[in-house]
Order: sequence, then structure tokens, then C-alpha cells
Amino acid sequence: MAVPSLPKLRGWRGTEGPGVSVSEERQSPAESSAVTVIYNPYASLSIEQQRQKLPVFKLRNHILYLVENYQTLVIIGETGSGKSTQIPQYLAEAGWTAEGRVVGVTQPRRVAAVSVAGRVADERGAVLGHEVGYCIRFDDCTDPKATRIKFLTDGMLVREMMADPLLTRYSVLMLDEAHERTLYTDIAIGLLKKIQKKRGDLRLIVASATLDAEKFRDFFNQNDTGDPSKDTSVILTVEGRTFPVDIFYLQSPVPDYIKSTVETTMKIHQMENDGDILAFLTGQEEVETVVSMLIEQARALARTGMKKHLRVLPMYAGLPSPEQLKVFERVPHTVRKVIVATNIAETSITVHGITFVIDCGFVKLRAYNPNTAIECLVVVPVSKASANQRAGRAGRNRSGKCYRLYTEEDFEKLPKSTVPEMQRSNLAPVILQLKALGIDNVLRFPFLSPPPAQSMVQALELLYALGGLDMHCRLTEPLGMRIAEFPLNPMFAKMLLESGNFGCSQEILTIAAMMQIQNIFMIPPNKKNQAVSSVMFHFVFVGSTFLDFWEHNKSSQWCQEHFLNYKGLVRASVVREQLKKLLVRFKVPKKSSEGDPDPVLRCIVSGFFANAAKFHSTGAYRVVYNEVIQTSKYYMRDVTAVESSWLLELAPHFYQQGTHLSLKAKRAKVDDH
Ligand code: CDP
Ligand code: MG
Repeated sequence: MAVPSLPKLRGWRGTEGPGVSVSEERQSPAESSAVTVIYNPYASLSIEQQRQKLPVFKLRNHILYLVENYQTLVIIGETGSGKSTQIPQYLAEAGWTAEGRVVGVTQPRRVAAVSVAGRVADERGAVLGHEVGYCIRFDDCTDPKATRIKFLTDGMLVREMMADPLLTRYSVLMLDEAHERTLYTDIAIGLLKKIQKKRGDLRLIVASATLDAEKFRDFFNQNDTGDPSKDTSVILTVEGRTFPVDIFYLQSPVPDYIKSTVETTMKIHQMENDGDILAFLTGQEEVETVVSMLIEQARALARTGMKKHLRVLPMYAGLPSPEQLKVFERVPHTVRKVIVATNIAETSITVHGITFVIDCGFVKLRAYNPNTAIECLVVVPVSKASANQRAGRAGRNRSGKCYRLYTEEDFEKLPKSTVPEMQRSNLAPVILQLKALGIDNVLRFPFLSPPPAQSMVQALELLYALGGLDMHCRLTEPLGMRIAEFPLNPMFAKMLLESGNFGCSQEILTIAAMMQIQNIFMIPPNKKNQAVSSVMFHFVFVGSTFLDFWEHNKSSQWCQEHFLNYKGLVRASVVREQLKKLLVRFKVPKKSSEGDPDPVLRCIVSGFFANAAKFHSTGAYRVVYNEVIQTSKYYMRDVTAVESSWLLELAPHFYQQGTHLSLKAKRAKVDDH
């Protein structure tokens, strides 16, 4: 694996480096300030009429019957069929929230938890935070006495188990969007299986958009008699109306799917009848590139006198909401809509009226290499399940066509389904939490998909190096317990807990808070050059950006002028306050280094020593980073220059002195080619 060499580093968040829009599909470890808009085709009807129009409505009684009679119900249904908003209400109406009990619904994404809670509160004419509430990291909008329907991230559910291991307040838990198989959904699944053995009254609903139902059902089925009538789990499918989709493959592979996407779009536009186009690409950069290429070609075509116009629209999580909403707008008959999207359009949003799908065949995923201990974002071929889900986006209103920019042979070689995050993540945060929940033997945890043993070992090593685990892999007191209490990656937690000793807790709080925000910069695509050349370099230091923001009275106008993400910075302030409370609780002294960068950098190293990278030419460790992104090259995000002697000084158990500083454990060796 190549070391990202310093001169090529472009990792500062918000610069034009790749992966700026990454992590849009996850809530952790980096907070995404991105919002996904929701489209309601029945907005003009009364709430009651809208509810009755949804496909789940016809199955209301059936769902209630199955929840009554089975411990686990696996429910499959297309996005928009009413699973998330309706099922919890049916349960409440049927008495599952009587006597102070709570129906909980978990979501992999923070924004989904908040927006679905808001919608359900609206439908019930309730104030959000009373009968219906949500709980996400750093933001609890529930009333313990009043809340009966609670939306929470799956990460928060796992945290709740620390205080209440059997989740006694819940009568039903619905694990929503389970097909995404995020790290914390999978952990919640394992933990709930254990809880169900002790609590026969607890009902589970696993809601998923795609067909991995059997795996979920079998995992939760406690019937070992072989007699199917004794099954404790069952599958129910909500019929969404779908039409046939014809699939087309390429005869031979293309070298450049971006170019091919543009060509295919133009061909469809010129040769096919009415119908909108949805093209899948892997990230924001690619989407913007294709959008501008298409706009150019569409203009050229219009000049030749072609009557039917193209309306080209981008769609990705980092796009401002008004821009996102445009994809749902109706267009006149003389216009064909082309939506160029990331994977967000695969299940998260549904656009009506799509007749043609173009699938580049790739997706950007988080991947972890246990040999190098590097977690990075990589572009990989999609799975068959994903490719089929993408194709299905075309057949929602009438029959459609899907153009796959790869050969049929290549399709056959694709993996059946996407590898769950559990098998491609750094497991340190997971193991720490399981340990904090009293699960000592993590190797015997009931994983739906067990992670690679090597990733487990890695995680244990890192936690040991951070001082969170002792020689016997037990959580240390108080450090390990405290690290586990932070709703952050253990490296961040360690850095924060050490900040008092380095005399810079003020600065570290700001840095940690700012680093939870996904995109600090918001650059409109048409202002890219201007933004990068004129303003950007003033804001290279996260801390100073934050202070400037305060000095300008947290003004949104000021943020806009400086291409800064206003909502993100407001959120950073909230996060900082919450982290401060934890530091106060753990009696970390409030100190500032008064402008001296040295203690701050040393403190960062005390948490992030494992993420050190070498200078290409000298071979000496010179920077620490937060994240690595791999496209055609490797890029590091959130990079800080350090002295290599500090690594030895601050993590003597991890590094050793030789001709050059080297790792004690050979695992994290990151060599040049
Ligand atoms: O969970 P599922 O995708 O099956 O559907 P849902 O989230 O319950 O959404 C059902 C319908 O409720 C959507 O089609 C929207 O019309 C509406 N909805 C909304 O208006 N605002 C939300 N935040 C969520 C849903
Ligand atoms: Mg849903």
C-alpha cells in the first residue's frame, strides 16, 4: 500500500479533493450535516387520506396480528410504502404503548430519525418531543414521562443498553432500514437477539427495503424443533406496484464510465420516447462532472433545433435542500429530466416517473484493511442486489429500461450482496461498547455476519495501546470506561481525556467538535474556482474558523460569504457544549494553551498516534490523520503535522526507536510500493 506522500495531500475537508461528499450514508463516526429531502406525492390530501393511500395501510391488521403472535416480524417493502411512519402508529393504536411502554424505531441515519419523528408528530397533531420524540447523538428530544413513539439512531439504542441492558421500557423495537447493514444496526441485531432470550414479551420488527429477509428471519428464529408451526419469526412483504424493467448490457467493457454515462444519456434522449432518466455514479465529484458535461451537450443539441429539452439535475446528500427538492419537481412534456445521483437514489429517496436507469456499476464504500489498520473510502463494484435495486428504480410507474455500463459477464461475477459494514470497518469503537455492556467474550457474540478475526485483533490492540483495555482485554477503570462513555471514536475520546494534562482542553474541545462535522465548507459548484483561490486558505485551521464564526456572532450571512457550512458550524457549537459537559464530569481541567500550538499538537498525537504517516522522501513519520480516502490515489483527510519524536514520547508502547522510528507491532506498517 502506498503512503500518501505529503506534496500530493489535498485532504482538507471542503477542498476539491475527492471524497468531499463521502460518508453521506452514515451517521458515524463522522457526523454528516447533509439532509435528505422527503417528497410526498399526496401532500394535497388530508392527513387521514394520505395515511390510507399508503401500501402498508391494507396490511394494518395483518401486521398487528403477526406482531401479536410472533416475536420477530421481518417486513419488506419499497421506500415510501409507509413502514417507518405508519407501523409505529398502528402499534400505538393497538395498545403497545399502554402503561408507559414505548415503541422504539431505530434509523441508521440521524436525519432520518429526526425527519420521520417530525412527520409522525405532525400526523398525530402532536408537539415533537412529547408523545412522539427522537433521540440522536448530542440531541435528545424526548420526554421520559410522555414519549410513547421514539425514533432513535441504532447507535443510540446500543448506548441506551448501557443504562438499561434489557431495554425494559420498550414493548416493540423496529429496526428500520436493516438492509443497510450498518455497523450499529448489526450490533443492535446481535444484542437484541440476546435480549429476546431473556424477554419473551419484547417484539422486534426488522424493516428492510430489499430482499435479504430470510437471513434476518432465520437469525431471529428461536424454533429448533424443525416444526415450522413453532417458528418465532416470520416474513411479510408489502406489495409495491412494480413494472417490468428491460436490462441492457454493454458488449465490451468501457474504460471510462463517466464518459459512457454522458453518451448513454444523450443516446436515450435522442432515440427513446418520453420518460425521465436516473444515472448512478459513486460520488459528488463525479455527479458534478457528469452534470456539467451533460449541460454542455444539451445546449449544443438545443442549438441544432431539437425540440425536446434536457433538464439536468444533481442529487447527493451534501447538496443544499432546495437543490435536492428540484429533482422532484414536475417538468413540462417538452422536457426530459435527467437526475445524476450518488447511491442516495438507490433506496433512500424515490423519484417518481423514472423510466430509464443508467448504472455505472460502482459504489463508494468504507473499507478497512486489517493488515495496514487503514480505514478508507474506496470505489468498488456494486453487488448484484444493488444493481437490481438500481434497475428497479425505473419500473415504478410504468415499464422501464436499465442500461448497465458493464458486460453481462461482469454482472455475473458481482458479489451477491454488499459486504456488511461490520466486515469492513475498524472495530475498535464496537468492541469498546460491547465490553462496556459487559460482553467480555466478543469473539462469541452472535454476529449476523461475523467480522474477520484479524479486524478483531487489530481493534483489541488499538484499545490496549490507548489504555482502554488491560493485558487481559478487560476494560480499564476509569480510562476505558470513560473512553466508552464518549459518543465518539476512541481516538477522539482519548485525546479529549488527555487534553487537561497538556493544558489545552479548550482548543481540543473545539477541534474535536469541528471534526464531527462532515463538510465545513459549502461551495456552490459554479463558484468552485473563486472559492478555492480566494477564501479557502484563510480557514485551513479548524480552530480559527470556529473562533471567527463566534466573533461574527454566528452569522449565516458571514458563513455564506466565506463558503462555510452554517448549519455545520452551529452543530459544532452544540457538540462542543456536550463534550464539555463530559469533560467537566470527568474533572478534566479547563485550560487553554494561549495560542501555543505545541501542546495542542502533542495532545492530538496522544489520541491519534496510531494514524501516523511518513514523509515520502525521508521515511520519518510527519503527520497524523483522521481518515484516508482512496480513489485513484490515497488521500488523507484532516491532517496535522507532527514531530516524529512525539510518537515515541507519547506512545512508547506503540512505536520503537531504530534507525527510523518503527512500529512495535508490524501490523500497521504502511510502506511505499
Ligand atoms: O418507511 P417507508 O419508506 O416505507 O415510508 P415512510 O417513510 O413511512 O413514508 C411514507 C410516506 O410518508 C412518504 O411517501 C411520504 O409521502 C410521507 N412522509 C413525509 O411526508 N415526510 C416524512 N418525513 C416521511 C414520510
Ligand atoms: Mg422508511
